Amino acid sequence: MNVLGHTKVLGVFGDPIAHSLSPVMHNAAIRWLNIDYIYVPFHVLPKNLPEAIKGISAMGLAGVNVTIPHKEQVIEYLDEISERSAQIRSVNTIVNVDGRLRGDTTDGPGFIRSATAEWGKLDGCKALILGAGGSAKAVAFALAEIGCEIIVANRTRRRAVELVEGLNQVFEAGKFGAAGLSEQELIDEMPEVDLVVNTTSVGMHPDVDSIPVPPELLHPRLLVYDLVYSPVRTRLVAEAEKCGARAMNGLSMLVYQGAISFEMWTGFQAPISVMEEAIHKTLGDTRGQ
Ligand SMILES: NC(=O)c1ccc[n+]([C@@H]2O[C@H](COP(=O)([O-])OP(=O)(O)OC[C@H]3O[C@@H](n4cnc5c(N)ncnc54)[C@H](OP(=O)(O)O)[C@@H]3O)[C@@H](O)[C@H]2O)c1
Repeated sequence: MNVLGHTKVLGVFGDPIAHSLSPVMHNAAIRWLNIDYIYVPFHVLPKNLPEAIKGISAMGLAGVNVTIPHKEQVIEYLDEISERSAQIRSVNTIVNVDGRLRGDTTDGPGFIRSATAEWGKLDGCKALILGAGGSAKAVAFALAEIGCEIIVANRTRRRAVELVEGLNQVFEAGKFGAAGLSEQELIDEMPEVDLVVNTTSVGMHPDVDSIPVPPELLHPRLLVYDLVYSPVRTRLVAEAEKCGARAMNGLSMLVYQGAISFEMWTGFQAPISVMEEAIHKTLGDTRGQ
């Protein structure tokens, strides 16, 4: 990679940032397309976020990703945000348009594109979303947009109810319900469901033996999408496949949300398989998977 005076700079702001896989996949795409960009990780503490955002215009960065813990807080420092970002109060992509900073979120579209690439269209399915945090919101709004019925089940029921209220304000009310994560509530919902999406951190390294639903409730007709990707094969994915269901982890969503950001910044079609390969190679190199 040849960095010259006119090379355009992209990056990611987060805290922590050292383990981000975004630089690996974006720089692989840049190299493969042979375009004059570079993608750099920036460790930005919450107290430094306003200055870091000003730095995008001041230093002429072409665009950045924003990750944990800045996705909501960043909104107040931007010139404009997309309708999608306004709905879920989250930005993961900033585009510098001649000094004006525009925020958008590619998490929801990344989820839909990755699932569709693997399983085909999900339009109109009945989904159970486990969790009601930031990624649950992105997934829920994206599924609602393609006409899905949704149950949001969360440990803290109040947050599930709030998410459903948000959905009811934007989409046709009556298609969304809230629940807790108790076994009885899951037993009531599971037989009706086509798609289960885990957006909780349950099962994430080092908590690898945990599973967000009792495995005996899984059934072969399910599509199971676990947003967790560390470990690459979560217990939820393993149990779902064991019972004959189709399952995938969150690596593909990571790639597709990055690919959509990449296309917003550069105008080039992102080379998905190149980005995937770069991530798998890095995970293989660093985590022995
Ligand atoms: N693949 C991707 O591209 C991608 C993108 C975004 C996120 N993710 C993954 O998705 C997960 C959630 O991220 P987020 O940003 O949505 O986090 P978040 O906003 O902090 O939400 C965390 C959610 O997990 C639930 N939770 C946490 N510990 C739990 C436990 N022990 N039992 C039951 N529920 C529990 C929380 O429930 P309460 O409300 O009760 O606390 C909440 O609903 C993380 O593992 C993250 O790595 C992956």
